[in-house]
Amino acid sequence: MARLFIPGPTDVRPDVLAAQAQPMIGHRGADFQTLFARIQPKLRQVFATSQRVYISTSSGTGLQEAAMRNCVARRVLCCVNGAFAERWYEVALANGKAAARLEVEWGRAILPEMVDEALTADDFDAVAIVHNETSTGVASPLREIAARVRERYPEVMILVDAVSSLGGAELDFERWGLDVLFTSSQKCLALPPGLAFAAVSDRALDKARGVTQRGVYFDFVELEKHLRKNQTPATPAISLLWALDASLDHLLAEGLDARFARHAHMAARAQTWAAQHFGLFAEPGYRSPTVTCVQNTRGVDVKKLNVQLRARGMQISDGYGKLQASTFRIAHMGEIGIADLDALLAALDELLA
Ligand SMILES: Cc1ncc(COP(=O)(O)O)c(C=O)c1O
Repeated sequence: MARLFIPGPTDVRPDVLAAQAQPMIGHRGADFQTLFARIQPKLRQVFATSQRVYISTSSGTGLQEAAMRNCVARRVLCCVNGAFAERWYEVALANGKAAARLEVEWGRAILPEMVDEALTADDFDAVAIVHNETSTGVASPLREIAARVRERYPEVMILVDAVSSLGGAELDFERWGLDVLFTSSQKCLALPPGLAFAAVSDRALDKARGVTQRGVYFDFVELEKHLRKNQTPATPAISLLWALDASLDHLLAEGLDARFARHAHMAARAQTWAAQHFGLFAEPGYRSPTVTCVQNTRGVDVKKLNVQLRARGMQISDGYGKLQASTFRIAHMGEIGIADLDALLAALDELLA
């Protein structure tokens, strides 16, 4: 089987792909409600919340927009340490929100003290952060950041993009006191693209009720109304929900802790290889469990390398944005296993020799 070592879309199990071929059902009928009701507790387990997880027929960016529209009334602090973090700021401005940037060098993590200091400087009602910055391979210490915000700024909404980490690294929504935590289907959850998921706190939902111009498609208040009936406000990608149901069964059968350990094991292996042959872009101590960003110190032509890898059923990723030429990325997320990664690294050793 071909293996995608790119940071999404990731490989999908054949039986999960096949689950999409179920006959169509109506989204206002009992069969749909049964499917939705079966999925919800499984999703809550994955997000570590007893509250709610909204399902959106969109990619993750849709729910990023939702977080901004529903949870920011005054001013949002956007933590910017990479290309995907930059999007928080763009989304804030595009939705007419007042925003400030907490600028951190690419390759470095956002730290609790940085957020703390920035939040004291102005009247913010939300902070937006990317947990796992896919462009640089940096995972910021979200647990510690959230603990600091909850302790010092209890009213501030914590909005988290976990697109490339949820399902591959521990993210304890409720215990950490997060407010919106969203991801896309096509990364660590190993589904086809087309769905996005967001855990939303009671606090965030209460806040949304008092925020105007929440839009239509991503309005938390509407999503909540329908969630309570085991439905979605608009027609969802029903076929993908069958696939989600099947993939969540696999995920929970593996067990969350085992899954996180598998990702950590692969990350350690990839980082060791990268350090031996190239260098790592991310600062030590904050390297991503799901994507390794390699400094292309040898000027390898990644396009050409990928042609050779594809002949072996594998594919890696070039750098992202301004790091396109200077780095390349090896993703180890979703259904990829340590044996797959070892096969990739062996192929790379051979091709680069
Ligand atoms: C960290 C991060 N945020 C956001 C996105 C955008 O997600 P989507 O394409 O599902 O909207 C990506 C995509 O790679 C990502 O890695």
